[in-house]
Amino acid sequence: MKVQNSTTISQTTQQPAGVMFCGYTRTKFGRAIDEFIKSGHNSEEVCSRLNTKLALFLKHLGLSAKLGEGFRGIVYKIDDKYVLKVNKYIKNVDTYPRLPGEDIFKELKSYYGKSVLDFNMWVKVMKNVTSRGKHIQAGIPDMKEAYSTLQDKALIWNTQYLPKFAELPQKSYDAVAKDFAALNRVKHNGQFYSFDTKNPNNFVLTGKSLRIVDDIDTTNIPEPNTIAGMLRGFLEKMDLDSKAPVGIENAGYRHSLMKKIILAGEKYELPYMHGDNDLQTWITVCDNDCYYRDIIDKLQVMRRKFPDKKQRLEMVKEFLDKEIQIHYNSFYE
Ligand SMILES: Nc1ncnc2c1ncn2[C@@H]1O[C@H](COP(=O)(O)OP(=O)(O)O)[C@@H](O)[C@H]1O
Ligand SMILES: [Mg+2]
Repeated sequence: MKVQNSTTISQTTQQPAGVMFCGYTRTKFGRAIDEFIKSGHNSEEVCSRLNTKLALFLKHLGLSAKLGEGFRGIVYKIDDKYVLKVNKYIKNVDTYPRLPGEDIFKELKSYYGKSVLDFNMWVKVMKNVTSRGKHIQAGIPDMKEAYSTLQDKALIWNTQYLPKFAELPQKSYDAVAKDFAALNRVKHNGQFYSFDTKNPNNFVLTGKSLRIVDDIDTTNIPEPNTIAGMLRGFLEKMDLDSKAPVGIENAGYRHSLMKKIILAGEKYELPYMHGDNDLQTWITVCDNDCYYRDIIDKLQVMRRKFPDKKQRLEMVKEFLDKEIQIHYNSFYE
């Protein structure tokens, strides 16, 4: 992804200069996708019309708005309703549109990573995370050539991403935790499912709403979506490869974000952690210290003892404010 502006978080949509879009925009390709979905995949004619539109779109890919890029794919805007994810490593020009099978993730409200239409392993269509055309990834986009040093990245993180995400309202994180809990309830053919929390680019912000993207992983672990997973996606890392800085200079925002995520996790009673990665995340976000243990112990007791959720959440909030302040004082003053 190209850097557009190094002093502010760039909105990831690029519109051709001078073109102003008002209202909800659709393209012929987008409408052909709708037509195909409605036709239930039966008509050869609809199918070939769609293939022609796709071929045209791919031919002029360079002119399309690039909404985001990850390790495996680049996501282009089709219109306000749909996007096309193009795999960077697999190219398969034989396209054959197919509707996805049974949707086992239909309970998820914030998840936009599922395909509404697959052409092959190379290209797939998904719902656009926002009709307003703008979103921001929860970490620094993959543009290493621009922010080459870790110090540069840390500065961008501390001054732009962290404040932006720390200042979101509690309900933004509540919605994510709700989906983590909903995904924990899904079991299919003996498998459990987890969001990919390793890369912050799998969480994006549009307005004040957070959305989850990318593929959902399968696992043998029951309830794999944890509070640690949320902390990893939003706070532990500033991009796929680098941990976010931990120090006095960003402690205020870090702690504020940490409290919101933990409170959201408590609201939906997510597990605290599974395995070593989760443990490492707790240690990191707790100022590289072990006071996470005191926090989890106390939260566990509160979950057991206070069935009234409203009352418990008030107590959790009060506890977190106090506990984190105590550690802040002993660490940084
Ligand atoms: N449904 C979507 N609507 C709009 N943008 C998306 C959508 N899915 C992904 N993106 C954008 O593309 C980026 C890369 O997508 P992702 O699926 O995470 O790819 P990768 O597998 O390469 O990590 C995301 O961080 C986001 O900015
Ligand atoms: Mg991703």
